[in-house]
Amino acid sequence: MSEASLRALELYCGIGGMHYALKLCGLENAEVIAAVDISPLSNAVYRHNFPGVLHMEKGIEGLSAGELDRLKFNLLMMSPPCQPFTRVGLKKDIEDPRTKSFLHLLSVLPKMTNRVTYILLENVKGFEESRAYKMFCETLDQLGYVRQGFLLSPKQLGIPNSRQRYYMLAKCSQLGFDKKWYKSKQPILKSLPEDIKLQLLSSSCPVGLQTTSGSSDTCQPLQNFLEQSDSTCENYELSKDTTERYLSVMDIVSPSSTGSTCFTKSYGQYIEGTGSILNLSPNNNNTTASCDRKAQHYKLRYFSPREIANIMCFPKTFYFPETITRKQQYRLLGNSLNVHVVAYLLKLLVTQ
Ligand SMILES: C[S@@+](CC[C@H](N)C(=O)[O-])C[C@H]1O[C@@H](n2cnc3c(N)ncnc32)[C@H](O)[C@@H]1O
Repeated sequence: MSEASLRALELYCGIGGMHYALKLCGLENAEVIAAVDISPLSNAVYRHNFPGVLHMEKGIEGLSAGELDRLKFNLLMMSPPCQPFTRVGLKKDIEDPRTKSFLHLLSVLPKMTNRVTYILLENVKGFEESRAYKMFCETLDQLGYVRQGFLLSPKQLGIPNSRQRYYMLAKCSQLGFDKKWYKSKQPILKSLPEDIKLQLLSSSCPVGLQTTSGSSDTCQPLQNFLEQSDSTCENYELSKDTTERYLSVMDIVSPSSTGSTCFTKSYGQYIEGTGSILNLSPNNNNTTASCDRKAQHYKLRYFSPREIANIMCFPKTFYFPETITRKQQYRLLGNSLNVHVVAYLLKLLVTQ
C-alpha cells in the first residue's frame, strides 16, 4: 500500500479529468490509487497517460463492498453517466439502464466497513432535480455526511468557456467534521470569488451556486489556449459549403474572445449547439447579427482537440494515443470535465 494520506478512487474515470484535477490542486500526499471505467476507448487514453495506476475495465455494478474496502481509499471522485439527466434527453432518471451502476454504488456504500472521508461527484445540470440525486442525498445523510451542491461553470473561474455542471461535495461528519459545515456555508464562502459569493448569498435555490452571467470580462482570451501552427489552421478549416450552409447557426468566436460555448461530444460532426467555431479573419465580424452574416467575411476553423483540452485545462503532458481518431478525441473530451474547476473544488473539499 502507498504512503499517500489522501487515497483517491476514480470511478467512471473516462480519460482521467478527475485524476488531473487531483494533481493540479497540489494537495500533498494525494494520489489516485485505482480507476474504473467500462469503455475500452477511454481506458486506452487513461492507461496511456497514467500507466502506473491500478486501472479496471469493468462495470461499476460489478464492484462489491469487500472489493471497495480492500482498496482502502478515503476520497471518492466520480462522474456517473449524465445522459439520464440531460435537459435535451428523455430524462429517464433511475429508469434509465445507464443509472443502474450508480444505484448499485449507493447500495454498496453503506455495506462498506471503511467509511470514505470525502466524496466529489460531477454531473450535468438537471441531476440535482432527479430522483437519483434524491437517493444520493438520502444515502449521504444516512451515512452521516455533510454535503454541499453547486452549479459551476469554468467562466466563473476566469476560463473562457461555458460548461455549467452540477457538483456535490460531501465529507463524513462521523469522522469529526463540523456538522454545521454545509449549513453555515462559511468555510466554502471564505475562498470563493466575489461574484460567486453574491450569487450564493442571493440564491434561494437548494443548490448552493448559480452561474454568473456577467463575468466574461475577467476571463482570459481564447488566444492563450490556441495552437499557433499553420497546419492547425489548414487541418481544421471549415469548407466553403459548410460555412455557407451553417453560418447563421454557428457560435463564432475570435482569438480575442473571452468566452466560448460548451464543446460537446458531437463537435466536428454537427455544427449547431456543439461548441464554438473560431474565426481567423482580420475583418472581425463576430458581432454581426447571425442573419446578416456573409460567408466571405469569415475564415473559419474548428478548435482542435488539443485546443479543447487546453481550454478544459488538461496539462500539456496529456496525450491521446495515435490510434484514437479525431472524432473519438472530440467525443472523449466532450464527455470529460474542466480540470481547473474540479481542482478548485477538491481543494475546498479537503482543506476547508
Ligand atoms: C461523464 S463520463 C466521465 C468522464 C470522466 N470524468 C473524464 O474525465 O473523462 C462517464 C463515464 O462513465 C463510463 N461508464 C458508463 N457506464 C459505466 C459503468 N456501468 N461502469 C463503469 N463505467 C461506466 C463511461 O464509459 C464514461 O467514460
